[in-house]
Amino acid sequence: MTLTLRTLTADELAPFQRVVNSAFLLDSAEDRLERWRGLFEPERHRGVFDGDELIGGGGIQTRDITLPGAGPHPVAAVTGVAVLPGHRRRGVLTRVMRAQLHGLHEEGREAIAALWASEAAIYPRFGYGLAAEFTRLEIPRGARFHPGASVGEDRVREVPREEAMPFARAVYEDVRPGRTGWLSRTDAAWDHQFADAEHDRDGLTAYRFALHPEGYAVYRVKPDWQERGPRNELHLREIAARTDEAYAALYRYLLDLDMVGELKSYTAADDPVVHLLEDSRLALRGRSDSLWVRVVDVDRALAQRRYGSDVDVVLEVADGFCPWNAGRWRFAVKDGVATVQRVDDAPDVVLDVQALGAAYLGGTKLTTLARAQRVSEVTEGALKALSHAFSGDREPHCPEVF
Ligand SMILES: CC(C)(COP(=O)(O)OP(=O)(O)OC[C@H]1O[C@@H](n2cnc3c(N)ncnc32)[C@H](O)[C@@H]1OP(=O)(O)O)[C@@H](O)C(=O)NCCC(=O)NCCS
Repeated sequence: MTLTLRTLTADELAPFQRVVNSAFLLDSAEDRLERWRGLFEPERHRGVFDGDELIGGGGIQTRDITLPGAGPHPVAAVTGVAVLPGHRRRGVLTRVMRAQLHGLHEEGREAIAALWASEAAIYPRFGYGLAAEFTRLEIPRGARFHPGASVGEDRVREVPREEAMPFARAVYEDVRPGRTGWLSRTDAAWDHQFADAEHDRDGLTAYRFALHPEGYAVYRVKPDWQERGPRNELHLREIAARTDEAYAALYRYLLDLDMVGELKSYTAADDPVVHLLEDSRLALRGRSDSLWVRVVDVDRALAQRRYGSDVDVVLEVADGFCPWNAGRWRFAVKDGVATVQRVDDAPDVVLDVQALGAAYLGGTKLTTLARAQRVSEVTEGALKALSHAFSGDREPHCPEVF
């Protein structure tokens, strides 16, 4: 039977979710299907069919992502990539990826795509680069802040979910434009992110909401009573604040909760809490990849973010999967704004589109990629200047898996 690929229809959410559940080894759950309904954009989902049977596919959520120095810009947030176990390694994913990326280019829609990868080996072949990382953090209760740290006078209060969510959304919206990697969230995205069905909690409590006048923290607790007393784990799901003082106050509150042994979270790679601590080594840290970014159109993508310093170089870009990007581009930054033009001039720096995606959010350094033999410098000094221009003053961070 030959495989066919087409756009899904609105009534194909259930079969699509069956494929995703099967691929991700999940039980089916009615509430998850309902939550997905609000996120499902059928015209942006592609399915691959064996006869009438949907056997794989992948979709796009229409979102904005905050870019370095440039605020929110459209991103194709790739999601629900799945192929039924019995149909793997026959090129189904490759067809979906090609349809997505070629479609974005042809329609002139989002200039970049981004995703979280279940396995890091899957997406580089399609031109995705490792653009952002998260830190897995563990801090023991009571860990003190350095003597100069101020938490202000405002109290942190625990409030019910209904009261907390509108406030959290307002804070998130205020903070988001300045946080590289943060995504716009529709009502459905908020509902999905903070859905609280018991079967999705892995034995933890429901979400709790701690509010400060300028910020919020959302967490769960994993019960743990040991012979020496309570050692509950506080699992911090999201924290955001309009001011550094509020941010410190929220962490102080969480770290002082009685009955807790340890605070655990997946947070920004440069979460300042490590430096708030008097003894930074109390914060155990481990890093791993979060966002993978794919530059769909080199010229449009590079022109839409801002840069930290001026530079004028010719890039030679290799891109086997999206050939319209391949070739030489003059990349010139003046006062943070880039112009990008196709040229025939000799290159100063040679790189794959994957490296461009990795560097795009200002997290992964081009100089690091050069040391990993993924970027080469032709003109002395060009790489350092380019890498400096791309680097952001904060690590990119994506606080949600989509
Ligand atoms: C990952 C997945 C979508 C791949 O689908 P697929 O149709 O088998 O992929 P393809 O046949 O198009 O594979 C294309 C290439 O990627 C490679 N590849 C695919 N999945 C891979 C993986 N998990 N690890 C390493 N390489 C992988 C294939 O070997 C193939 O390489 P080749 O061209 O050198 O032969 C599928 O295995 C799956 O559904 N996995 C479980 C769910 C999941 O992880 N989804 C991704 C969510 S981010």
